[in-house]
Amino acid sequence: MRVMRLADSSESPKLVEASIPQPQPGSGEVLIRVAAAGTIRTELGWYPHTHLKSGEPRQNAIPAHEFAGTVVAIGEGVTDFALDEHIYGMNDWFAEGALAEYCLTTPNAIAPAPRTLTPTQAATVPISALTAWQGLFDRGHLQPGHRVLVHGAAGSVGLFAVQIAHLHGAHVTATASGHDTVFARELGAPQLIDYHSTRFEDVLHDPFNIIFDTVGGDMLLRSLPLLKTGGVAVTVSSTNENSTDERIKKAFFIVEPNQRQLMEIAALIDTYKLRSWVKAVLPLCQANDAYTTQIPGHGKVVVTVNPPAA
Ligand SMILES: NC(=O)c1ccc[n+]([C@@H]2O[C@H](COP(=O)([O-])OP(=O)(O)OC[C@H]3O[C@@H](n4cnc5c(N)ncnc54)[C@H](OP(=O)(O)O)[C@@H]3O)[C@@H](O)[C@H]2O)c1
Repeated sequence: MRVMRLADSSESPKLVEASIPQPQPGSGEVLIRVAAAGTIRTELGWYPHTHLKSGEPRQNAIPAHEFAGTVVAIGEGVTDFALDEHIYGMNDWFAEGALAEYCLTTPNAIAPAPRTLTPTQAATVPISALTAWQGLFDRGHLQPGHRVLVHGAAGSVGLFAVQIAHLHGAHVTATASGHDTVFARELGAPQLIDYHSTRFEDVLHDPFNIIFDTVGGDMLLRSLPLLKTGGVAVTVSSTNENSTDERIKKAFFIVEPNQRQLMEIAALIDTYKLRSWVKAVLPLCQANDAYTTQIPGHGKVVVTVNPPAA
């Protein structure tokens, strides 16, 4: 199968084309024919792409761990998916990713794809929407009427965090670039602070039940004085992953696969309550551009792998 995988000898992470054997599902695994893969700009240098789970150095990892595609083979013991089913979802960070014609995953990490989205659109959803969902509900215990502050509202994760919090009856305040003001308002954040011109702590005074940081740097620590007693601060920014500050360590989490949540997210999409955005579409052979080129717009850069026949 055709793949784009990390070159093992490059100083900065770079993808090269390769042809490798198609994997076969083991017990409890599902083989997906990838239609489209979602990308995260910073992912090439992440630990699971340079190390095995054992800690040994890893070579030639295939990135992109969210995708939409079709189930083409099922391992022993898998009962909840059928051949030819259209799915969307993710796989383990240490597994070979979806910049490949086929990838392996497990049933808990996928769900039937939203019926109203193309595979390209569906590939933008799993990691960003699950991250927003888990930050708001699993960690933040979001309730209607809560006051929620989202940093980076117009980004891939932020746009889902704002929409989901708003849908659940929260009062959402957000930070983003000024040119994203209209976009963030339409997502459900009536109060938007342009981070280029205003320090949010100069204009925000009422405390929040949930602070959701997707930006990193000093955003979380600057925000903590705005947290209600008993409130929850979360950060997902990869810049915070290796922080030694106990407050950041407590707030940081990494998204986990969750079939039930993917189904709930798909139901919201199919009833037009939740929207996704595709920033750009690249063919597999140009996947490097997803990680090296600043592409304007909202949502994710998607790599199409096996585009459906016209
Ligand atoms: N922990 C996890 O499980 C997990 C899962 C998914 C993603 N992530 C990480 O989460 C982070 C966000 O991912 P993403 O895909 O949402 O990134 P993204 O699409 O690049 O969005 C980041 C957004 O933050 C805005 N921004 C930058 N600096 C800001 C500031 N000081 N104040 C307010 N907004 C600011 C950017 O606006 P401008 O472009 O206009 O500056 C952009 O809209 C990344 O570090 C990613 O690696 C982690």
